[in-house]
Amino acid sequence: MNATDAPTAPAPTTAIPATPADVTSVLVVGAGQMGSGIAQVFAQAGRNVLLADVSADQLARAKAGINKSARRLHEKGRLSDEQHRNATEGITYLEGLDGADLSNVQLAIEAATEHLETKLRIFADLDARMPAGAVLASNTSSISITTIAAATTRPQHVVGMHFMNPVPVLELVEVISGLETTEAATTLVMELTRELGKSPVHSKDVPGFIANRILLPMVNEAFYVLQEGIGDAEGIDTVMKLGMAHPMGPLALADLIGLDTCLAICEVLHRDLGDDKYRPAPLLRQYVAAGRLGRKSGKGVYSYE
Ligand code: CAA
Repeated sequence: MNATDAPTAPAPTTAIPATPADVTSVLVVGAGQMGSGIAQVFAQAGRNVLLADVSADQLARAKAGINKSARRLHEKGRLSDEQHRNATEGITYLEGLDGADLSNVQLAIEAATEHLETKLRIFADLDARMPAGAVLASNTSSISITTIAAATTRPQHVVGMHFMNPVPVLELVEVISGLETTEAATTLVMELTRELGKSPVHSKDVPGFIANRILLPMVNEAFYVLQEGIGDAEGIDTVMKLGMAHPMGPLALADLIGLDTCLAICEVLHRDLGDDKYRPAPLLRQYVAAGRLGRKSGKGVYSYE
């Protein structure tokens, strides 16, 4: 620069937050059961949270669900008054991202449906909207973080942050590094997870990661057992609850996760691992085709009306 040049604005920093404390504002994209739970736990931990969805109805359901969950936990003494207030008052609900000020948001977490094209579109959009130093995370349950990261100009700052349902209750978060993810981004997300009061486990970026590589074959097999008439739904679930001390049986769990999500994960495992042992059970496909998606639609394997 010579003496006559006007000073230029400093280039935007591309450094990610150095510590979890530097992550003060978080954007969650998708206000379904996972996105709501993620927004809730970040708010409880004192972060400013923006929870965005394209549907106003979904946002209204999310707000009611978060308030109910926080009240239950508060009544049991698991949340302090301050954490309860943070969950009920510390979340801004956004219908879409147009017009939202994201300039002070350091972390975005995508929790949309388990559909590759949708996630690629959201990540390209987040990449354009979010500050250069922000970390972009996905709550995907099975889709490749490397593939999602390739939709952005910052694959080094893209991480998998996979929560378990119900998010306010379960302690595990899988943290997944894509091919280009830096150690700094992975470490930040691992430390942030601990600050939420949860326990991170690192996984390589393989289909289903650790949790769903193990869980979904069991859930899928339960549908084969049901389809073959080996037992009825209650019998199958009772075997796994009383015989294996699982908190709920695999079919009731599938209803909690969402049958469409279970099918989507099985399809990723089947296609990307190329092994027929992951072939989705025809009965699972049929329930999804019939709109029996589990608790969220009022009917899955069981009825919730
Ligand atoms: N918010 C706050 N509290 C909640 C809650 C929520 N959303 N959901 C449940 N709870 C609390 C209840 O208040 C209750 O608390 P206490 O133990 O203090 O009484 C407790 O959780 C149990 O609730 P319920 O009595 O209603 O029912 P339950 O005893 O059957 O527990 C459950 C419900 C927590 C869901 C339990 O059955 C469980 O842990 N099931 C297994 C869930 C699981 O495996 N999740 C992982 C799914 S895989 C996934 O999410 C990832 C993926 O990619 C597919």
